[in-house]
Amino acid sequence: FRRLGLRGMKQRLLVVANRLPVSANRRGEDHWSLEISAGGLVSALLGVKDVDAKWIGWAGINVPDEVGQRALTKALAEKRCIPVFLDEEIVHQYYNGYCNNIPWPLFHYLGLPQEDRLATTRNFESQFDAYKRANQMFADVVYEHYQDGDVIWCHDYHLMFLPKCLKDHDINMKVGWFLHTPFPSSEIYRTLPSRLELPRSVLCADLVGFHTYDYARHFVSACTRILGLGGTPEGVEDQGRLTRVAAFPIGIDSDRFKRALELPAVKRHVSELTERFAGRKVMLGVDRLDMIKGIPQKILAFEKFLEENPDWNNKVVLLQIAVPTRTDVPEYQKLTSQVHEIVGRINGRFGTLTAVPIHHLDRSLDFHALCALYAVTDVALVTSLRDGMNLVSYEYVACQGSKKGVLILSEFAGAAQSLGAGAILVNPWNITEVADSIRHALTMPSDEREKRHRHNYAHVTTHTAQDWAETFVFELNDTVAEALLRTRQ
Ligand code: G6P
Repeated sequence: FRRLGLRGMKQRLLVVANRLPVSANRRGEDHWSLEISAGGLVSALLGVKDVDAKWIGWAGINVPDEVGQRALTKALAEKRCIPVFLDEEIVHQYYNGYCNNIPWPLFHYLGLPQEDRLATTRNFESQFDAYKRANQMFADVVYEHYQDGDVIWCHDYHLMFLPKCLKDHDINMKVGWFLHTPFPSSEIYRTLPSRLELPRSVLCADLVGFHTYDYARHFVSACTRILGLGGTPEGVEDQGRLTRVAAFPIGIDSDRFKRALELPAVKRHVSELTERFAGRKVMLGVDRLDMIKGIPQKILAFEKFLEENPDWNNKVVLLQIAVPTRTDVPEYQKLTSQVHEIVGRINGRFGTLTAVPIHHLDRSLDFHALCALYAVTDVALVTSLRDGMNLVSYEYVACQGSKKGVLILSEFAGAAQSLGAGAILVNPWNITEVADSIRHALTMPSDEREKRHRHNYAHVTTHTAQDWAETFVFELNDTVAEALLRTRQ
């Protein structure tokens, strides 16, 4: 900040993401009630030290009339949020059509939706066009609020076209872009029909960040192999201009979890759950109901475990919280039915008159209930087929201070790189391996549990969301300052 002459004044940060961290409900023509999601990411992004942050994004709701838009804009301003209004048609094409169907599965190595492959190919151009138009709408809101010296931090695969829109408007804007999903191997990435335009736009940013070194490396390879640009240890070079590319692994606000465990409401939940499941070991899964999370594979692995270990029947229960998500997309609707079918079959097969082996809930839990679940369960099963980072694994570790439960973690989650030494790592596609890991976790001696937990707890409590956000913003300022110095020399 000193180098930029910003000492003594707060720098402004504009966080731009597809979604605002709010749920907005209309209570009248010009009246809105807002609930801010109090996650670690929100406090990290809005709480960066010495920075005055605002969040720009879609409120997740269609507001066709001007009265409603004005009222919502006013209500959001109090929460440091600025809305981008997207109509139903653009949400259908840009969000459901393009984002959720193309980059999301592809970046997680799942390819395009199988049955809809041809339809997807046919609709691709109009959806990509809507994607670019939507990104331009986000850019227009940024222009309206931008002041010289602001840092603009764009987030995720929804907004890959945004860095270009911003720099085309004003080359001096300080722009960072961060991807919350994996970036796949360039051999997977190169099948994307819009493979050229997206990285070209991302490279307009000054700093490009990923959760892991591997994702950053895949991105650089895509730029060198597909765009023919120069890769350096610092990033990607195009006609003498360097875009820095680096890994910034995210974390959680671990203190928030530690504090919650002391609350009477959470303690009450803990004793209720302990009593409810007395005499049985409890395993926990908490996921959005998304194909990348590997929920059917996890449940089949649990079935295999029950099959091969009859002595454990009625002595262990799997609590699976599956939070509904993207419910307008057919692929997600199919997944929900598939999971229900498998759970029903297994409960029918292994249940008794008084107990079932799987408790499956299609809903989210409030923060207090979630903390209690994290604290009382013996094993957490995080078996994503791919996952950018997976913060459920971090949250579980943060709440296991006294119990020292075991984390079974997919080797394809970004978190495997930070929690790998403490967790049992598994290939989620191999249900026999996961079933064996369940037995290992349930029978693990306490000194081994203690040792594994200590490793993970130290990591989770020292690599926080706040550190992540501050490091990114610091590096972005630094990168721009260095580029400026280079051009002046
Ligand atoms: C992932 C993405 C986020 C997204 C979240 C929820 O974590 O990286 O950008 O917000 O999923 O998905 P949704 O489509 O409901 O915003």
